[in-house]
Amino acid sequence: MIIGIPKESLTGETRVAILPAEVKKLSSDFLKFKIESGAGNGSFIADEIYAESGAEIVSDVYSDSDLIIRINPPTEEELSKLNEGTSLISLLAPFTNHALIKQLATNNISSYCLELIPRSTYAQSMDVLSSQATVGGYRSVLNAASHMGKFFPMLMTPAGTIKPATVLVIGAGVAGLQAIATAGRLGAKVEAFDVRPAAREQVESLGAKFLYMDLDDSAETDSGYAVEMNDEFIRKEMELLHDAAKRVDAIITTALIFGRPAPILIKNYMVNDMQPGSVIIDLAAENGGNCELTQPGEIIQHNGVTIDGRLNLPAQVPVHASQMLSKNISKLLTDIIKDSKLSFDLENEIIKGCLVTHEGNITHEMTKNIIEGNS
Ligand code: NAI
Repeated sequence: MIIGIPKESLTGETRVAILPAEVKKLSSDFLKFKIESGAGNGSFIADEIYAESGAEIVSDVYSDSDLIIRINPPTEEELSKLNEGTSLISLLAPFTNHALIKQLATNNISSYCLELIPRSTYAQSMDVLSSQATVGGYRSVLNAASHMGKFFPMLMTPAGTIKPATVLVIGAGVAGLQAIATAGRLGAKVEAFDVRPAAREQVESLGAKFLYMDLDDSAETDSGYAVEMNDEFIRKEMELLHDAAKRVDAIITTALIFGRPAPILIKNYMVNDMQPGSVIIDLAAENGGNCELTQPGEIIQHNGVTIDGRLNLPAQVPVHASQMLSKNISKLLTDIIKDSKLSFDLENEIIKGCLVTHEGNITHEMTKNIIEGNS
């Protein structure tokens, strides 16, 4: 089997799906890697390093690969290069990217969707959403610190005492918890809020203060995701956040609801009441943003407040983001390759969870229902 790793074409992407260490580990007489020249450049890995690990460096990985592994969904042009009957591992945004999923089925491409790998304990090591959220959460704090005209830690110096910065993190999932930990390590006072009651203990165990509001177990689904809260809850939540927004130096928003646009939690009037020089880092910008004023992909100023809606923060930490992705994907490969061939066995929980298209059909029930409901 030939596995092809293309150079990512998304503007600003620096990550690569597989590192030389995993190429070396997985290569065998039956499994060969072809790497597009320059694929590792953004992560500081030269072609020669891939070659030393046993990969063949080529200008086109699509022509004879049995499996293409990439990070971002293929563009129309890249999709047209995938040969019929071959396979793809990638992020695919299947609930919104309906045209792509339909085309993959029509072109008879078998696709394993990285977002849909079950978030079970067993599959934790394959979970790219978690690994990349960890990177994004970390980076969001560094970006907040670099926008601010202030220190994060308390400093007692001959030139006076500096008060620590206060950081509010909204949403304490994987990214939010990493942001809390990182801001804490930099010496900031951290406050946080999440709708899931389970998040309170996790926030407090990191030494941060959990903002108080009555919470209910029904805010969490069996799979650990938040449900969409009703208007009354969101109104009360915004009151709580409005009070906090007036006194904090930085807000990091990470609130997401599976398969839905991000909830708006920071309204225009709340930003108007923030201190000049303060910062909002909107990690939910990819899904529209948690702040009403966020412009996805942009850094803007509003009344002296910087609102950073840049996308793809993991690409700002390419070395470790790629290292974590590469580990996740190699774990996935060891689960789905049987006897040197890709397995499409739907009895396997991982394959059942993430195989989106196969033999000309959309095989993933939820994706199929969403796409058919919209067509
Ligand atoms: P996510 O990225 O879908 O959402 C981020 C956070 O936003 C969540 O904590 C959610 O509760 C919160 N949120 C949603 N609406 C909100 C609102 N109105 N106000 C404030 N916060 C709001 O979540 P993520 O990070 O992917 O993880 C969700 C859960 O899944 C967590 O409990 C996490 O520990 C769990 N998980 C379990 C895994 C496993 O067992 N393998 C792997 C990854 C996550």
